[in-house]
Amino acid sequence: MRRTLGWSAASLTLLVFVVGLATMFATAPVIRAEDPDDEHGCISCHEKLNPGLVSQWRQSTHATAPDPVSCEACHGDAHTTNEDAHEAKEATPKVCGECHEKQVEQFKKGKHVLAEASANAIPMMGQQPKVVQEMACTGCHDVGQTREDGSVGRCDACHTRHLFSVEEARQPEACETCHMGEDHSQYEMWSSSKHGVIHHIMPEKGRAPVCQTCHMQDGDHGVITGWGFLGLRLPVPDKQWTDDTMTIVKAIGPWGRDEEGMAARVGAIQALKLARLDDETFQKLRTKMLDTCTTCHARSYAEKHLKQADEVIRETTHLLAKAVRVVEALYAEGILPETADGPKHPDLLLFYDSPTEIEQELYRMFLFHRQKAFQGAIHANPDYMHWYGWAKMKSSMQRIEALAKEMRKAKEAK
Ligand code: HEC
Ligand code: HEC
Ligand code: HEC
Ligand code: HEC
Ligand code: HEC
Ligand code: HEC
Ligand code: HEC
Ligand code: HEC
Repeated sequence: MRRTLGWSAASLTLLVFVVGLATMFATAPVIRAEDPDDEHGCISCHEKLNPGLVSQWRQSTHATAPDPVSCEACHGDAHTTNEDAHEAKEATPKVCGECHEKQVEQFKKGKHVLAEASANAIPMMGQQPKVVQEMACTGCHDVGQTREDGSVGRCDACHTRHLFSVEEARQPEACETCHMGEDHSQYEMWSSSKHGVIHHIMPEKGRAPVCQTCHMQDGDHGVITGWGFLGLRLPVPDKQWTDDTMTIVKAIGPWGRDEEGMAARVGAIQALKLARLDDETFQKLRTKMLDTCTTCHARSYAEKHLKQADEVIRETTHLLAKAVRVVEALYAEGILPETADGPKHPDLLLFYDSPTEIEQELYRMFLFHRQKAFQGAIHANPDYMHWYGWAKMKSSMQRIEALAKEMRKAKEAK
């Protein structure tokens, strides 16, 4: 009995080994494109140094194209030894554009191209340790990196090197590393919305939209939305909403409050498209978005959803503006100290460097809670809209009012 068992275990092991070997050969052929003339030795040298890199290139359509795109096509041929690696050319959008002009031109018209400039426009960024600037802000904002040849952007943000796969870029996970977290949790919102859930259950059926369905229609690389990151635009339908928007716009400008400062601030906000001041473009983008929804929904159904999301923007703008005004009044009454560079006003873009407890609360209400409320509404995620968003805004508002009351009392007592 023992013996038989021993035998069957051995034959089983042998069988597993043979089948394993066979599947290995059957499913993992070594994909080997014909090497283009490796006249500079790029492939043979780097195959030893970074075999993973070269094998990914071999699997790419670049390597398997009838006229393969060689290492030299992207990095030039100035570097050929162990000592002159710094001579290798950066593979910038200008380089990609030699063969993919359409995508590069589209990319230039979108918001990703402004990513580095807009992070640099935030003065608090310059006040962080260099390593924080580089690993945090730049870690995501380098999708709009200015390159050594003057072109702007990183095409490998979505189809990573050296596979440069269109399939990878079509997955919502390609956006996840950057579009997640406290102030722009679109991945989490979408992922747990009905759209995301259906996609995860049956991705192959294409029943539900992914990020790219709604934001890169027809493969358009020029991503931009109507409301933008902050859900601030003009004109809006009524006076209260307009006043509320202006209150917040003033508080996102560290550029000073005199007329000249104000003009510079509006200029920067416009150039970087931080707040949107062009109704025609908004309406165009809205129509384009609705056309996408209409491939699966009745237009009226989708329209109603987007109108409701607009209403959430109105409500959250009103609540935030109310909180900004509470802090503004504390400056006006001299209860909060004047900032070093002059103007007395709350500055929302100081983020976690905000100088007082009440301003820290205001920053969280602005950057975490309001963002979740309106972005959650847009992305059809009730929980983000409500518990992570609106509910926390209400709590923040209460705390800001209580802190203001305490501060006034403390001043009177002096
Ligand atoms: C003699 C071996 C050798 C040859 C030939 C070679 N490289 Fe390199 N390459 C290196 C080494 C070593 C580095 C530095 C690796 C490191 O930093 O760990 C490097 C780095 C690079 C880098 C990164 C540059 C940077 O600034 O970090 C690129 C791109 C590159 N090689 C492309 C090429 C291309 C294209 C060719 C052919 C034209 C080529 N290499 C030929 C050895 C070689
Ligand atoms: C389609 C263009 C393209 C081709 C072809 C290409 N590269 Fe690259 N390579 C890039 C991009 C993009 C980067 C990212 C850095 C940058 O933007 O310059 C990069 C970065 C690198 C780096 C440094 C970063 C790292 O991950 O180590 C090395 C080394 C490198 N390439 C070597 C090669 C070699 C060797 C070949 C040929 C087998 C090759 N590349 C072919 C586009 C290309
Ligand atoms: C010398 C011309 C050339 C350059 C330079 C070049 N490509 Fe390509 N690219 C091609 C060719 C050829 C193909 C394969 C044929 C096709 O489908 O167009 C391709 C295909 C692609 C694809 C589709 C891949 C897939 O999975 O089907 C992507 C994405 C891509 N390239 C991105 C880039 C990026 C990013 C750069 C710059 C870092 C770049 N290419 C530089 C010629 C080039
Ligand atoms: C490397 C990080 C990174 C990746 C990956 C990335 N994005 Fe972005 N995205 C950003 C940054 C940073 C901004 C803000 C740009 C700015 O500062 O102007 C942005 C802005 C946007 C905007 C514009 C919002 C507005 O202001 O109107 C859209 C839409 C967008 N991204 C969609 C996507 C989609 C869809 C994907 C995946 C296919 C994606 N992004 C992948 C970093 C990234
Ligand atoms: C925000 C993510 C993202 C960035 C950044 C990005 N791409 Fe793409 N790219 C995509 C997506 C998604 C697709 C697939 C579009 C589709 O479904 O047709 C794609 C497709 C492509 C294709 C294949 C087109 C085809 O019809 O086969 C090329 C070539 C390409 N991109 C080049 C580039 C170049 C060049 C850059 C830099 C300027 C770039 N991409 C930057 C997401 C991105
Ligand atoms: C069903 C379509 C749809 C899907 C799927 C979708 N979005 Fe959106 N997204 C929208 C709409 C609609 C807006 C608001 C447009 C406007 O401003 O009028 C928006 C806005 C945005 C914005 C601007 C800021 C904001 O949140 O309001 C970004 C960035 C963004 N989406 C990224 C993503 C990413 C990343 C994914 C995937 C994880 C995704 N979206 C999935 C429809 C979609
Ligand atoms: C996890 C990636 C990530 C990190 C880290 C990050 N950002 Fe962003 N940032 C984004 C994305 C994605 C957007 C666009 C989101 C949207 O439109 O909803 C954005 C938007 C912005 C915007 C608004 C751009 C506009 O015009 O709409 C500014 C300004 C900004 N970030 C500055 C910074 C600064 C400064 C830092 C570092 C202190 C930083 N970001 C760190 C990903 C990041
Ligand atoms: C590729 C198809 C597709 C596209 C495009 C699409 N949706 Fe959907 N959507 C679905 C499906 C499928 C459901 C689930 C229907 C159900 O609940 O029975 C859904 C559900 C919804 C829901 C209900 C969510 C819930 O929690 O019950 C809303 C709201 C919605 N979509 C809005 C939109 C809007 C707005 C757009 C355009 C910006 C859009 N959808 C684009 C397929 C799509």
